[in-house]
Amino acid sequence: MIYMKKEEFLQIHDAFLRSYSEKQTQWFVNVPRSIRFRWFLTATNPLNWTKVLDICGGYGEYASYMQAVEGRHFKYTCLDKEPHVIKCGPSYLKNFGMKGNFILHNIRKPFPLPEEAFDMVWLFGWCDALFDCYKLFNEVYRVLENNGIFMFNMAYAGKYKTKYDEKPLRELMKRTNFDVLKLEKIINGVDYVVIARKCNIARAEVTR
Ligand SMILES: C[S@@+](CC[C@H](N)C(=O)[O-])C[C@H]1O[C@@H](n2cnc3c(N)ncnc32)[C@H](O)[C@@H]1O
Repeated sequence: MIYMKKEEFLQIHDAFLRSYSEKQTQWFVNVPRSIRFRWFLTATNPLNWTKVLDICGGYGEYASYMQAVEGRHFKYTCLDKEPHVIKCGPSYLKNFGMKGNFILHNIRKPFPLPEEAFDMVWLFGWCDALFDCYKLFNEVYRVLENNGIFMFNMAYAGKYKTKYDEKPLRELMKRTNFDVLKLEKIINGVDYVVIARKCNIARAEVTR
């Protein structure tokens, strides 16, 4: 099967945003897309996954890139709090021959999803300073299968900066029952990127 070239993907993506009069997000204004995708691909390529939950997923840019350009196939679910994102997400994915399940949801609340339903959770383009990470990561833990992967970044967003440095970040992962596989600081506005694996132990056994 021949997949879409990256340039073609980006043209369709930009045309879609223009058609909704949407400005490019300011969030990643200092992070060139090539850096984001390069990091994302390096991190995800060696891993096996088939059921992805994208929290704060927007229209599903990463998911469609992974499928359209990289030829990865998976079931895609997106949680986002913006009604217009949830409404337009399916037509964005359709541009790339993809389907997804878009659910209107504020991730400050427990996810409307069953336990152990996903083998990969993504959380990109958010700022931890605005959330209770302990609660949020517990929800991620709940919906992940054992050994499932959680990938996220701790980002700057306008005046907000991550409140976690490396040591507290590792502590947070430990307390929420994840093993850190990779933790890197990247430049240009995004602080830490993390790949973690859900520990294969019962929650009741965890001492806090
Ligand atoms: C900057 S976009 C990032 C989208 C995508 N993850 C990416 O990296 O390109 C942030 C998204 O998070 C969503 N969002 C922000 N706060 C949220 C919340 N509390 N619950 C659910 N979605 C939220 C916004 O609606 C927006 O679509």
